[in-house]
Amino acid sequence: MRPTAPPRPAPAPPVLVTSRPLDEYCAGFGLTRAGLGRLPGPVLDCPGGAAGLAAEARALGCEVVAADPGYALGPGRLAALAAGGRAAMADAIRRDPRRHLPADRRHRPDPYLRSWDRARRLFTADATAHPDRYVAAALPRLPFADGTFALTLSSYLLFAYPAVFGPADQLRALRELARVTAPGGEARIYPLNDGRGRPCPHLTELRAALRHHRIANRVLRTGPTGRVLVLTAP
Ligand SMILES: C[S@@+](CC[C@H](N)C(=O)[O-])C[C@H]1O[C@@H](n2cnc3c(N)ncnc32)[C@H](O)[C@@H]1O
Repeated sequence: MRPTAPPRPAPAPPVLVTSRPLDEYCAGFGLTRAGLGRLPGPVLDCPGGAAGLAAEARALGCEVVAADPGYALGPGRLAALAAGGRAAMADAIRRDPRRHLPADRRHRPDPYLRSWDRARRLFTADATAHPDRYVAAALPRLPFADGTFALTLSSYLLFAYPAVFGPADQLRALRELARVTAPGGEARIYPLNDGRGRPCPHLTELRAALRHHRIANRVLRTGPTGRVLVLTAP
């Protein structure tokens, strides 16, 4: 009998680079353009990917610093990866529009995907002109002082890729996002489900662990299915 090889662990799915625009950030995180314009300090977008947030929010008087390990590649190469992310999303939408499109856009995937193209172009131009606003860095360690940001945003990473971020990694990353957030400010994390729409099964335990570290937190409902984890810096 031939010895059988032990089963190999399934490879972790690659983290897509995406390019969501400001309006999709506002809808996902439960924010408004006016609220962003009134913030008393800078915003951190981690992971920023090829999103349009930093470029678009500046027009509202809001300073955004984006952080992502992909910025080490330079804007052109990251934008090329984001074009691949857009193609992957177009495929996913074709297969299951209900899961991947906001309810009001279910029958109009093309304008939705064009909003990603526009955000990607804005990112490329902004990151080329202002490289200091795009910091190459990876959670769970960010190169910012405690309490730097009035608002910290983290979308489509910590809960979207549970094979990459297990519970202990999620806790470390959430504590880091809270650390760089100013007292009285908030860190918002979205979505709270994985790429197949399955809610994080250990959110209650994670929230208790955050409280143990003196990080107050709540779950904000932003719509029938939208939920955002909101942390308040200790
Ligand atoms: C799905 S994109 C989200 C980008 C943006 N927030 C958006 O919604 O368009 C995920 C991003 O996470 C970045 N990433 C991967 N590992 C990371 C880590 N450890 N810390 C921070 N960002 C990471 C990837 O480079 C990629 O750009």
